[in-house]
Amino acid sequence: MKMIVTIGRGGTGKSSFVALMAKHFVETGQAPLLLVDADPDQNLAEMVGIDLKEAGKHTISELLVSTFIEQGGTTVGVPPTERIESKIWSSGLFESNSFDFLAVGTKWVEGCYCMPNAALKGALGSLTKNYRYVLIDSPAGLEHLNRRITSKVDDIIDILDHSKKSFDHVKRAYRIAKEVDLEFVNFYIVGGYRFPENLGGQAEADLKFKYLGKITSDEQLDEYVLDGKSLLDLPADNAAYVSVKRILKAAGYV
Ligand SMILES: Nc1ncnc2c1ncn2[C@@H]1O[C@H](COP(=O)(O)OP(=O)(O)O)[C@@H](O)[C@H]1O
Ligand SMILES: [Mg+2]
Repeated sequence: MKMIVTIGRGGTGKSSFVALMAKHFVETGQAPLLLVDADPDQNLAEMVGIDLKEAGKHTISELLVSTFIEQGGTTVGVPPTERIESKIWSSGLFESNSFDFLAVGTKWVEGCYCMPNAALKGALGSLTKNYRYVLIDSPAGLEHLNRRITSKVDDIIDILDHSKKSFDHVKRAYRIAKEVDLEFVNFYIVGGYRFPENLGGQAEADLKFKYLGKITSDEQLDEYVLDGKSLLDLPADNAAYVSVKRILKAAGYV
């Protein structure tokens, strides 16, 4: 299993990027594939053409709250990790022919819920083993990833936007990843669709992370997003999609 986490400032094109990576893995038959929406914005589902509510699926936050907080987690004899895992299988995981999907959700009581957090990490650890690729669409910070979801990933991809602030974002994200002991193999940077092409070299030189290339700005993609259409249905020669395929190749994916 390979886990790829996409991070970046809001509006940089993270969710679109994750949807296009999914499109590539689906179309090249690299199944099974799991998409995890860990961003509170929760717009990845729509971008891959699914409706979790309509399918009667719950976010993992909702399942955690109902399992551990509302019911007090009292299912005698069943360890917490198994309890949450079976709930995720039965009412969290959206399954389709081409990929599976999980949303982390926002209904989360802040504070130290060490037991549910640990149980969730354990459950996801055994669940994600079943996949060839796990793609995580994640908000800026990596703390929550380590605390709630996983402490071990393969690739972190930080999407840069047009401002130099996104350089700071990269530095901060890397520092946080180290601070919270998130294990990762590669930390890559990618130019978002608004990132000036000519800053690629400078970004690599300043930040000292491998620059995988830029996501092409593409009107058709933007229209699909506005219309709520699935990005999986974009034509094979769509410019943004072609650029994402190139980026994946630069990261060593086929
Ligand atoms: N390659 C692209 N070309 C043109 N517009 C894009 C592209 N990628 C994303 N967008 C637009 O930018 C906005 C934010 O994209 P999104 O993927 O939701 O970003 P994020 O997940 O980082 O917030 C959307 O309106 C989307 O249509
Ligand atoms: Mg998003």
